[in-house]
Parts: sequence; C-alpha cells; structure tokens
Amino acid sequence: MVTARITVNGKEAPIAPAAPHTTVLDFLRERGLTGTKEGCAEGECGACSVLVARPGVNKPTDWVPVNACLVPVAALDGQEVVTSEGLATVEAPGTPPVLHPVQEEMAVRGGSQCGYCTPGFVCSMAAEYYRPDRCAHADRGPDATAGADDGDSGDSGDAEHGPNGFDLHALSGNLCRCTGYRPIRDAAFAVGTPADEDPLARRREQDPPAPVATEYRQDDSAFLRRSTLAETLRLLRERPDAVVVAGSTDWGVEVNIRSRRADCVVAVDRLPELRDLRVESDHVEIGAALTLTEIERRLDGTVPLLAQLFPQFASRLIRNGATLGGNLGTGSPIGDSPPVLLALEASLVLADADGEREVPLADYFTGYRQSVRRPGELIRAVRVPLPLSPVTAFHKIAKRRFDDISSVAVAFALDVEGGTVRKARIGLGGVAATPVRALATEAALEGRPWTTGTAEAAAEVLRGEGTPMSDHRASARYRAAMLGQSLLKLYAQTTEAVPS
Ligand code: FES
Ligand code: FES
Repeated sequence: MVTARITVNGKEAPIAPAAPHTTVLDFLRERGLTGTKEGCAEGECGACSVLVARPGVNKPTDWVPVNACLVPVAALDGQEVVTSEGLATVEAPGTPPVLHPVQEEMAVRGGSQCGYCTPGFVCSMAAEYYRPDRCAHADRGPDATAGADDGDSGDSGDAEHGPNGFDLHALSGNLCRCTGYRPIRDAAFAVGTPADEDPLARRREQDPPAPVATEYRQDDSAFLRRSTLAETLRLLRERPDAVVVAGSTDWGVEVNIRSRRADCVVAVDRLPELRDLRVESDHVEIGAALTLTEIERRLDGTVPLLAQLFPQFASRLIRNGATLGGNLGTGSPIGDSPPVLLALEASLVLADADGEREVPLADYFTGYRQSVRRPGELIRAVRVPLPLSPVTAFHKIAKRRFDDISSVAVAFALDVEGGTVRKARIGLGGVAATPVRALATEAALEGRPWTTGTAEAAAEVLRGEGTPMSDHRASARYRAAMLGQSLLKLYAQTTEAVPS
C-alpha cells in the first residue's frame, strides 16, 4: 500500500498519523502552520481558507481556495496545498520573508487589525489574483455603477469588480469582525497581475496532481478513494453504510459540530465519470462531482437559471467544493439546487454496480432527507432537457443576501408566447419536507394571459402551496407570503420583456 502523502507549501509530508476524520485545518495546525485559523469550523467564516491545485478551467491548473475545516486531509492524498505561510517567499536563509503582493496590499491599506481573519482573506484573495481570466474584467471599476446588485439579475455587479478585474465575490466566504470591509476591498482592488517568474503563476501552466487511489485506514475507520466509477460502485456494494463525500461540505460540519465519526468514508469527487459536462442537442449533462464553481465557469450562462442560482448558493469557498450530487444526495428540503432543477425538469442518472437508471427529479425525493436512491447507488449526473424555457428566475429569501440558508427558495421557468403562458414549471424549497413542484400554481398559469390579473390570482394559489413550518428562520405565514411575492416579483421583472 502506498503511504498517503500531501504536499504543503512545496514540501511533501505523510498524512499519518492523522486519523481518517482529521480535517486539513487540524492537520496543518498540528504541524505548526497556525496561520490557518479556526473560526467557526463549519464553513462560514473563511479563516481556514487554503489554496489547492485543481484542474483548471482556462489553464491546466487553478489555485482553488477551500475551507480547510471541512475537508478531510486524506481527501488530499497526493495533492498540493498552499497556506498563507507559503505565499510569502524567503529570498535568502535568515532573511525575513518577502510578502506576497496580496499580503503587501492588505498590510499597507490597513486590511488587518487583530489579524485573525487575515490569512484566510489572503488565500481567497491570492486565488483571485491568480485567476487566469481576471483581466478580462479589467475595464470594470469600483465606480462603474453606484447601485448595488440586487442579487437577482447578475447584470449589475460592476460595483463588485475592481479596475483590476478582481471579483469581490471571491471574498464572499471570508468574514472579518474588526477591520471593516472597505480597506480589504481597497487591497483587493489594488493587486496587480502576477510576474512571469511568480512560482504559483508558473505552476498553473503544469497539470495539477492526478487523483490517486487512497486506502487510508486507522483502527476501525477508513478513508477510501477508488480510481474508477466501476471500482467505487463495487466498493459501495460491499460497504453500503459508507459515507460518500465529494466536496465534504456536509461531512465537515457533521465531524466538527456533531462529532460524527463514520467508519468508512468513500470519496467520489475526482471520478472522471462524474466530472463530465456536455451540451447535447436535447439536453445538458452535468457530472455530479463537478464543483459548483466548475459548472458555473464551464456553462458560462448556457443555462440562465443555473447562472442565477450559483451566486446565491453559498460563498465562493463553499462553491469551490460543493457539488450538485452532494446537494441532491443529502436530500435536504432547503438545498438551493433542487427548486432550480425542478423548474428545469431535470432528471438524475443514478448508477450502481448493476447499471444506470434515470429518474426525474420530481420523483426523486420521497420524504424528509429521503429519496429513491438505493444503498450503494450514486448520482452520476444531472440532465437538464433542452430547449430551455425563456422566462426564468430564482428567488432566494434568506436573512442575508449571500452565504445564507434559504427560508424559502422559488425557481420559475415559463414559456410565454404571444402574451400567453404556454408552460409553467415552479420549484419550491423550504415549504415542505422535500423540495416540491408548485403544481397548482403551474395549472393556474398555463393557458392564461401573462397579465397582472393572472399573476395576482396565481400568487394567491402559490401562497397555499406546500406546508411551510415556523422555525428560527421564518414563520409559516412569512414563508407563504414570500411565495406569493415571489411570483409578483417575477411578473414585475418580466412584463417589460414579455408584453401582455
Ligand atoms: Fe470558519 Fe473554516 S473555520 S470556515
Ligand atoms: Fe480581526 Fe479581521 S482583522 S477579524
């Protein structure tokens, strides 16, 4: 058996004796790399952000920041990680390190006070610094628009891009409780482009480390990764009790906050069969283990409803790990992708050792965190049929604009021809034990003129869909009211484009 190893800041180290449930964060800190901080241990603060070399979208390798508190270190067997300590360079032994350009900008622009959040900010900022297509936005400056993006249209985000093309959403998963964000934004908008000799910039031109099969065991627990889907499915047949992880965004919370320790964890995030993205004549197929960031960048607006979903889904740090397979696999009633995929009439390709089957997403959920997925079965891909309905919107109602859990989520996909609604598909989250289609509202819209009267009548029907609960996020009344408002908002947003 090959010993599991990880390369951190250019130096290779064995993962042992870390336990299989050890996070990257704990592994690094245990080795003295205490720049990587623990703030929340559940993916909400970004203090633990580190860079991982991953397959790139526009270059062979991207430096991708992830929450080290959520990822099992065994998942990075054979991979390369850079921490905040690894960004600075030491030019000669005994001399102080030379700050990385993003560290320098944070320092001189007052972007750090207590400094607890700073290494995480610096890693997220460095990833954006190295993003190959950043300069494509270089003409957009902070003063390009005075208005704030409402989070819906995705077309007024110039206030959130620096003159250097820096996308502020790259920092959406990093919280600072003392500096205030303006100096941090100033630092972000001041960074230049990497010098030719910059080692991390040069590293992007080479392939990232290939995934390696991992058999990491200690006592009675194991972290396992197979090279192919067939091998993985055979393993899952033997171990139907295994916890399957891709981005580990759920696993990390279970381990850190709920102290869960699975006997067997099986990683599927690097399986090539789960990482394909194809646009065919009649459907788009999205591999279940592609990260949301990869899908967002590779689709590049091909599915506008998904393009609306991604910025609202979670922070960039989370989207760099999270997958559609994970969001659907957990069966959560408040996951953000199911309402959108229901409105898109998506289906899931489920695979086990005997073969594949395709299940409409509308038939997938069977109860609270339950689905038709059988033990040993994996979600291989999500299929979105084409052509797409032209009138779409995703409305996420949450306490914060970004990086929050939905109180209610509503996705619309409407065909409106000649002023009449020919087809309506509406997906809802947060109003029942499972994500649901708003079937009564769809019926109230179809065949009717797209007018204020129709929208108001259908909004009333939508308020009665599902069985919303009252909890710490929202009351049942509020949730029902927001459903109706959501349809009225869609009508208001679309009537100019689609005259009644
Ligand atoms: Fe807060 Fe990891 S410690 S996101
Ligand atoms: Fe103190 Fe950000 S500088 S938390």
